[in-house]
Amino acid sequence: MLPKLNVVPFVSVDSMMKLVNTVGVERFLVELAGFVEADFKRWESFDKTPRVASHSAEGVIELMPTSDGEVYGFKYVNGHPKNTREGRQTVTAFGVLADVGTGYPVLLTEMTILTALRTAATSALAAKYLAPKGARTMAIIGNGAQSEFQALAFKALLGVDRLRLHDIDSSASRRCARNLADFGFEVTICSTVEEVMLGAEIVTTVTADKQNATILTDNMVGPGIHINAVGGDCPGKTELHADILRRSGIFVEYPPQTRVEGEIQQLPVDYPVTELWQVMTGAAEGRVNSRQITLFDSVGFAIEDFSALRYVREQLARTGLYEELDLLADPDEPRDLFGMLLRANQPAAA
Ligand SMILES: NC(=O)c1ccc[n+]([C@@H]2O[C@H](COP(=O)([O-])OP(=O)(O)OC[C@H]3O[C@@H](n4cnc5c(N)ncnc54)[C@H](O)[C@@H]3O)[C@@H](O)[C@H]2O)c1
Repeated sequence: MLPKLNVVPFVSVDSMMKLVNTVGVERFLVELAGFVEADFKRWESFDKTPRVASHSAEGVIELMPTSDGEVYGFKYVNGHPKNTREGRQTVTAFGVLADVGTGYPVLLTEMTILTALRTAATSALAAKYLAPKGARTMAIIGNGAQSEFQALAFKALLGVDRLRLHDIDSSASRRCARNLADFGFEVTICSTVEEVMLGAEIVTTVTADKQNATILTDNMVGPGIHINAVGGDCPGKTELHADILRRSGIFVEYPPQTRVEGEIQQLPVDYPVTELWQVMTGAAEGRVNSRQITLFDSVGFAIEDFSALRYVREQLARTGLYEELDLLADPDEPRDLFGMLLRANQPAAA
């Protein structure tokens, strides 16, 4: 049978939710982390560029492209911290994979849910290399849309099963705890940052605020902790006091992007950092001792989205969880695009 050249597989939000629930969210996170790790280990085979950001007073819209020479991928994503007040998400996204040989898209998918999954999978993967061995207790500061995904990825990949939650809006912490009730965590809701840090071996900061916030100050961070800093991901949008950075081993995705968007925008442009992919290949050291503070300065890089798109595409044939989208014009004679338009306006032949 000839392929339908007009058709691109499309994964709607509904199909994505069915896919995640069919696979199981924890297994999905583990398998997705495997795809991210495999792609980070072949880092040098990718075209890389900092994402293209369009900033406004309220937020940012970004395009995140990359290619491994055979497949091209990009994500459209926004970040608008005030959106939740009007019933909208802070972050929404969709993405495309395309065949480099023909330029034809091979997948169009929602990526709002997929971004939360890939961000969490990447965070937990980084922690696998950087967090103190056997860590079971994680503090999560900022208990919004990303938070449950982060918790589940750390459980699935590292065995974290004690959570300490803090949010300036305590209803967000209660909702997070409720959503995670059946996943086997021991959850403590804390009213202050000082309290949430007690006994935490890992801290995830995942707040949304378009400013240089100081979610954590230096005195709150004891030796040996792993910091998974997710919420600071734009120029002028950070979460950690700069003194913490100076005491930490800092690990980043793609330095040209992170130096502009990450916590390290607060440091000189030549401040030494380690690229995460090099830790994964063994070219650089991860955690060096049990007292070191390790910091994953996460901003989210295009290769993680590429891995997520690749993973989703691999699930389609098996699960059938997609629709056929009539996305590409496909005239019988390729150069007769206008003829196809004219014929579409004619009454159907008797
Ligand atoms: N690094 C990445 O790859 C990546 C990926 C996705 C999202 N993000 C970022 O993560 C952040 C969170 O995203 P989300 O979708 O969960 O947003 P969200 O709006 O759903 O949740 C954010 C939560 O942070 C809380 N908060 C804000 N300021 C706080 C403070 N000072 N102390 C404690 N809590 C505070 C809010 O009350 C809210 O509950 C955003 O900044 C987003 O841009 C980063």
